[in-house]
Amino acid sequence: MIFKKGELFCGPGGLSLGAKLAVVEKDGEVYKVEHAWASDYDRDSCETFRYNICPDRPETVICEDVRKLDITKLEEIDAFAFGFPCNDYSIVGESKGLEGEYGPLYSYGIKVLKYHQPKWFIAENVGGLESANEGQAFIKILKEMEEAGYNITPHLYKFEEYGVPQARRRIIIVGIRKDLGLRFEVPQAPFKDDPSKWVTSRQALEEPPIPEDAFNHEFTKHHPKVIEMLEHIPPGENAWYEGIPPHLRLNVKGAKLSNIYRRLHPDLPAYTVTGSGGGGTHMYHYREPRALTNRERARLQTFPDWYKFFGGKESVRKQIGMAVPPHGAKIIIEAILKTFAGIRYDTEPAKWEDELNQMLSTGTKKSKKTSRSKQKIKKDTKEENAVREDQISFDFSLTNSQ
Ligand SMILES: C[S@@+](CC[C@H](N)C(=O)[O-])C[C@H]1O[C@@H](n2cnc3c(N)ncnc32)[C@H](O)[C@@H]1O
Repeated sequence: MIFKKGELFCGPGGLSLGAKLAVVEKDGEVYKVEHAWASDYDRDSCETFRYNICPDRPETVICEDVRKLDITKLEEIDAFAFGFPCNDYSIVGESKGLEGEYGPLYSYGIKVLKYHQPKWFIAENVGGLESANEGQAFIKILKEMEEAGYNITPHLYKFEEYGVPQARRRIIIVGIRKDLGLRFEVPQAPFKDDPSKWVTSRQALEEPPIPEDAFNHEFTKHHPKVIEMLEHIPPGENAWYEGIPPHLRLNVKGAKLSNIYRRLHPDLPAYTVTGSGGGGTHMYHYREPRALTNRERARLQTFPDWYKFFGGKESVRKQIGMAVPPHGAKIIIEAILKTFAGIRYDTEPAKWEDELNQMLSTGTKKSKKTSRSKQKIKKDTKEENAVREDQISFDFSLTNSQ
């Protein structure tokens, strides 16, 4: 069974690569996903997507603002993906939710669901979605998905537990059309209870070593004082490490967020790869006093080395940081294919399983749990998010503060 897939907000193709790699077989029948069309308004992302996902059909990637896209002209599909923009749902920053510029864009995904009625869909966003607009945005989005005709399974995935060499928490919602009589279950995280099996940043960056001439592997030219400061920061520590001599310390106006000049720990998964943020947020190597290259960030996001990103260094950084790790996407999409094929697989309870019906019917959540999980997500998201450039300044003057 082949599922033709359409995608909005396709970015560089993290979800799509996962979909392309997911294949299952039952009684001689192969279940897989095939690209039909994709759209994004960012030129570099579209170029990256075309080159890697559908080089034979470049015209099927439509580079356009979703607000101008005529969805009635898009080819019929069986599967649909949309990692709608998270800018207004991140907890760091203003978190305007549905009142922001990006918040309402999810509704274009709902329009596709209503018009094209694919057999299944997969949607993705940050953990902060749960608490945006006092929790109302999340419930509204879930309700609209359900009302479009889908049995939905939202879950907060911790990708490090699925073998991604990075702590990355994302809400992923899978929906299967109600008339098909199937319900998706969350595939069990294979390394949930055994952090010793988590893939480390050293394994990701060194096994195998990255060839010097790999794509997107340009090194940053640092100011000598940044190098000197990094040399005083041990692996796993950040710019607030007490061993940094006073003349190399930073002056910070806002909160001292932990990811500033934070060096990776070689024996742990990396902290979250992000796509934006100013000085000190480019992720720093555990052994060498320098920022990671885009290829190294791509490795932490589980993109293979042949995956070529187009655009300038910052554009590529953004594309990589916003993508769904293909390895994680593959596991989830394979579980969808197994659901259709009737193949059993190990599952775990979905995060909102107990309260989903209540959320959908009353538009509210159990208040106690809401505030506890809200705090937890807030903490997780704070740890992982990028910081705003205006929160940081330096004791020394830098022309290039990366
Ligand atoms: C979170 S990223 C999607 C990443 C993708 N799912 C992946 O795995 O690679 C969100 C994407 O939405 C796109 N986007 C934001 N606003 C848009 C708009 N108004 N129209 C079209 N695309 C938009 C951004 O360019 C970005 O690539």
